Amino acid sequence: MKTINTFFIRTYGCQMNENDSEILATQLENRGLKKALVEEKADLLIFNTCSVRDLAERKVLGKIGRMGKAKKRQIIGIAGCMAQSKKEKLLEKFSHVDFLIGTNNISDINKVLDEVLATSTQVSKTEERYETELDYLFAKRDNKLKASVSIIRGCDKFCTYCIVPYTRGREISRPFESILAECQSLAHKGYKEIVLLGQNVNSYGKDFKDQKFLFHDLLYKLDAIKGLERIRFLTSHPVDITLDLMYAIRDLGSVCEYVHFPLQAGSNKILKKMHRIYTKEEYLEKVNLLYKLIPDIALGTDIIVGFPTETDEEFEETYALFKEIKYSQAFIFAYSPRKNTPSYRFTDDVTKEQKGIRLQKMLDLFQTVKNEKNESLKGSIVEVLVEEFNLEKNQLKGKTRQWDKVIFFGDKSLLYSLQKVKITAFNHHTLIGELILSH
Ligand code: 5AD
Ligand code: SF4
Repeated sequence: MKTINTFFIRTYGCQMNENDSEILATQLENRGLKKALVEEKADLLIFNTCSVRDLAERKVLGKIGRMGKAKKRQIIGIAGCMAQSKKEKLLEKFSHVDFLIGTNNISDINKVLDEVLATSTQVSKTEERYETELDYLFAKRDNKLKASVSIIRGCDKFCTYCIVPYTRGREISRPFESILAECQSLAHKGYKEIVLLGQNVNSYGKDFKDQKFLFHDLLYKLDAIKGLERIRFLTSHPVDITLDLMYAIRDLGSVCEYVHFPLQAGSNKILKKMHRIYTKEEYLEKVNLLYKLIPDIALGTDIIVGFPTETDEEFEETYALFKEIKYSQAFIFAYSPRKNTPSYRFTDDVTKEQKGIRLQKMLDLFQTVKNEKNESLKGSIVEVLVEEFNLEKNQLKGKTRQWDKVIFFGDKSLLYSLQKVKITAFNHHTLIGELILSH
């Protein structure tokens, strides 16, 4: 049997994958392996992959392909969404890959590794069952200030372009006792911020058969934990943003005033084709209510341009709505057909060139909107949780409750504390401020 001492995990895609990588790493450390600083030096290399867009897949496939030619004596594994969606095809394509581990099997990593070491054959574990027994409590984190905590896995929405319901399965909420215990233990260890993760956190609890305990109920419980200064959550489906949740954001001190509220498209025809199950009017109604109830709320969005059959006029509708809503964060993508999703059968009739033009127009609009927002913040006083210290510049860096980055001069002793900062300027996506010293 071979022996291995070190590992390296390269993570692609969303925060859920980051969280899964932490859980994988914890289990590997528990068996005595050490994290390697560079991937070339690791005895075991795991690619935790993403399937959401074609480019992400091609990048990782190219990299794994090149590794075959290098013939390094490393054990190579593929985890995450590509392992789940492509399964054995990956092993056939890459004979130098030793194992696959799907999104529902990350707690089996040590068993898979034992089998690889004992048999030297390709091993695959990509079951369709949904994960319920992850050893969440023991996930170690690199960051000492912020921790992400998975609360719900999978997605039941089936937007027509999206691979997630097929790679991560149906929604399953984690028992709230387990979430509470993990957050309490994090607070005890000195963590100040938690990010609640799920493909659709607002659906939390809907699948509990024997109790009524929804997402806002969870927020009330977590807010009561002493020491947790900030609670964030990612990501939300507009349909599941309820009035109760809005009240929770308004009323709970630790829940930050930021909602990721993906619009995807601003034309009702395209929204319908995407199976987003809301109209632009319904969406806007919720946005207006959020702005009314929580005046300092910041909204983030995801946008897909160039969805099949999107005309210039329909794109302009998305453009106009984006401008009206004044998002403070935006992730903008060109449509990328994914095999096995319903929209794969739609004719992808928007040319690559048109997609590129629309993408650039949206990115430019976002920059303009962001500059206007940043300009309006000048002179205001914000609360910053300090995350980093730059010794050369004697500069601190952190985030506001609204998820804006801020830099300002200050002493290293302020690291990991909450500070009041007056905004004086900004550059690109970062606010620049001055520390307000408390007396
Ligand atoms: N093409 C382009 N963008 C996509 N997204 C999901 N699937 C696709 C696709 N097939 C985007 C959506 C989603 C974000 C995570 O990725 O905007 O909200
Ligand atoms: Fe994909 Fe839609 Fe579910 Fe988001 S809500 S993960 S876009 S299917």
